[in-house]
Amino acid sequence: MRLAVSGASGKTGWRVVQEALAQGHTVRAIVRPGSAVPEGLAGAELVRLDLGDRGALETALRGCDALVIATGARPSVDLAAPLKVDAFGVRSQIAACQAVGLRRVVLVSSLLAGAWLHPLNLFGLILVWKRLGERWLEQSGLDWTVVRPGGLREQEDDVAAQVVRYGPADSQREGSIPRRLVARVCLEALAAPASIGRIVEITSAADAETPATPTLAALLATLS
Ligand SMILES: NC(=O)c1ccc[n+]([C@@H]2O[C@H](COP(=O)([O-])OP(=O)(O)OC[C@H]3O[C@@H](n4cnc5c(N)ncnc54)[C@H](OP(=O)(O)O)[C@@H]3O)[C@@H](O)[C@H]2O)c1
Repeated sequence: MRLAVSGASGKTGWRVVQEALAQGHTVRAIVRPGSAVPEGLAGAELVRLDLGDRGALETALRGCDALVIATGARPSVDLAAPLKVDAFGVRSQIAACQAVGLRRVVLVSSLLAGAWLHPLNLFGLILVWKRLGERWLEQSGLDWTVVRPGGLREQEDDVAAQVVRYGPADSQREGSIPRRLVARVCLEALAAPASIGRIVEITSAADAETPATPTLAALLATLS
């Protein structure tokens, strides 16, 4: 598969790139003109563009089989950033996919997307705008999957001991997960046609705490 990953300079994005390369996919890593490039992008084709540059975005997506959207507003004093990135930035990417005939899209969103009364919304109503981005994707006619992780963790050392807890939309309200596992779930979703048109919530826990739904396939079977 030729895979495009936007937000590839981010801490989830570069891991999606790495996991995809490890699976033998060809990867086009989309970053901003001024993004710092993490080492994890080695082996990917790097494309620098502004999400508002529709022509550049379409050129970057042309010929790709799927897009993983791992963009997200970085914490800042700009309270409009979540609206710009998590809603309008997603909408730009959807429109570019439609324009070039790229049908398969996986969006990294967030647990509690759509919640109003939550402290995370102190940063520019981020959960509200994330849900708007999701809704635009749901209504796009594209083959979409939304992956909603809990709080993201950087640790890599405990990943092997972690079991992903999968759930449908609005089934989980708390918990966390290493970004490495989020990246793997994005790839897992791409390989599972039954995930098309689904919202998948993920957190993880140590082995001992057996999750109710231990695999994506098991979750998807309950939804179909
Ligand atoms: N932090 C959490 O606990 C948490 C929990 C659940 C969900 N999420 C969501 O999960 C996703 C990944 O999170 P993360 O912490 O791994 O990401 P991150 O490291 O903050 O990276 C964000 C990515 O988005 C890009 N970006 C930011 N503003 C942009 C803009 N205006 N135009 C284009 N690209 C832009 C960044 O580019 P630059 O490198 O150039 O800045 C970077 O590549 C995000 O959508 C985040 O909201 C986060």
